[in-house]
Amino acid sequence: MDPEEFRRHAHRLADWIADYFAQSSKYPVLAQIAPGAIASALPGEAPAQGESFDSMLSDFEKILLPGITHWNHPGFFAYFAITGSAPGVLAEFLSAALNVQAMLWRTSPAATELEEVTLTWLRKLLGLPSAFEGVIYDTASISTLHALAAARERAVPSVRSLGLAGRDTVPRMRVYCSDQTHSSIDKAGILLGLGQESLRKIPSDPDFRLRVDALASAIAEDRSAGWLPLAVVATVGTTSSTSIDPVAQIAALCRRESIWLHVDAAYAGVAAMVPGHESILDGSADADSLVVNPHKWLFTPFDLSVLYCRHMDVIRTAFALTPEYLKTIEAAPVRNLMDTGIQLGRRFRALKLWMVMRHFGADGLRVRLAEHMRLARLFASWVDASREFERLAPVPFSVVCFRARAAMTNEDADVLNERILEAVNTTGEIFISHTRLNDRYTLRLAIGNLHTTESHVRRAWDLLQEKLSTVRRTD
Ligand SMILES: Cc1ncc(COP(=O)(O)O)c(C=O)c1O
Repeated sequence: MDPEEFRRHAHRLADWIADYFAQSSKYPVLAQIAPGAIASALPGEAPAQGESFDSMLSDFEKILLPGITHWNHPGFFAYFAITGSAPGVLAEFLSAALNVQAMLWRTSPAATELEEVTLTWLRKLLGLPSAFEGVIYDTASISTLHALAAARERAVPSVRSLGLAGRDTVPRMRVYCSDQTHSSIDKAGILLGLGQESLRKIPSDPDFRLRVDALASAIAEDRSAGWLPLAVVATVGTTSSTSIDPVAQIAALCRRESIWLHVDAAYAGVAAMVPGHESILDGSADADSLVVNPHKWLFTPFDLSVLYCRHMDVIRTAFALTPEYLKTIEAAPVRNLMDTGIQLGRRFRALKLWMVMRHFGADGLRVRLAEHMRLARLFASWVDASREFERLAPVPFSVVCFRARAAMTNEDADVLNERILEAVNTTGEIFISHTRLNDRYTLRLAIGNLHTTESHVRRAWDLLQEKLSTVRRTD
């Protein structure tokens, strides 16, 4: 594509995206197509000759767009609602054009140094101490994997060279977390050769927070049975109900027991920058590592996760490996990002977080996060005042867990709520998701999109009530 042709298409694409941002609610939020519909509408072979960008864009609109679930839609209330904000999208465009590969300082000094600067800004906004060094990965799953790899590196001598298999001198290891913890912890255990049985899920209290007394007993029991307690994962903002584990107490226990503490603040950690919410990270300053995802609730386009670690030297010990062809000589010591993880190549992700933070400013970010929490409290107040619905968990952030009350058996209530979920989601106006709390099918309304206003939340509430009546009528 010659530069003039690129210019023409880029302008057209910019217009398309600007219109999309302005009118994303004209699309059904949840793709309403049958499985296989997109694949069967596309040719099975790559074209033999190159095709025009016009024909690609036309197919994008006709074939692909109907199969898009619009995460940038103001009616997106499922999972954790997110925003790929305009400054972040522009940064992605630039980053793709530069095509920077930031494995070494030399291969892109600006990408390496901007990552350090931006993560220092974010760390200060969250109130974390300077002992935490940050690094960007793609997702929280990968951040947590690296944190637990570091815990394993510290606890098991020579694990890097000898591995785990066949070593009689290495006891079986345990990682502790609550029964509300995200499945990425299980996956890290699988990949690190610890096995899923290494994960001991500690019961949570009625507000879904890890019970520290049960954790202490589990550690004592495991030690006497010969297990090696490796790490505890505490969560600030659990996936189902956004509960906050008592991190300060857990940190004290971990210190006494010399166990690595990793805090999973993937969704909710950013809320610590909002005045009045600083305490959500109480105790996290004493953790060994903490993950926070700007791609969840800090208006940064997917993907960007940040791992803060007090012992980045341990991560480097676990992963740094420099073959001859990657050796460089610099005028001063430099940070090579390839040393802080398993992957060699790295995208220039810091650019989008930097542009997002500069565009909104710290105050702008705070105001928007606070507004999402206000909207969640408002929705919760409607649920609480209703005779038809009930709330199933506290609302510390921007997610409300609730369900329609049923004067029936538990199973019938589950079916009723499943049908309400299906009914509201097929309207195309809103998309909500569900979880299970205390073994009850639970509806979840998550607020996190910049374009979501009180009127969208009100519409969601109206639709839920309307569909409850419809579902009951058709019973
Ligand atoms: C608390 C928590 N931790 C970790 C994750 C995994 O996030 P990612 O998709 O970035 O791996 C999630 C995903 O929602 C989450 O809610």
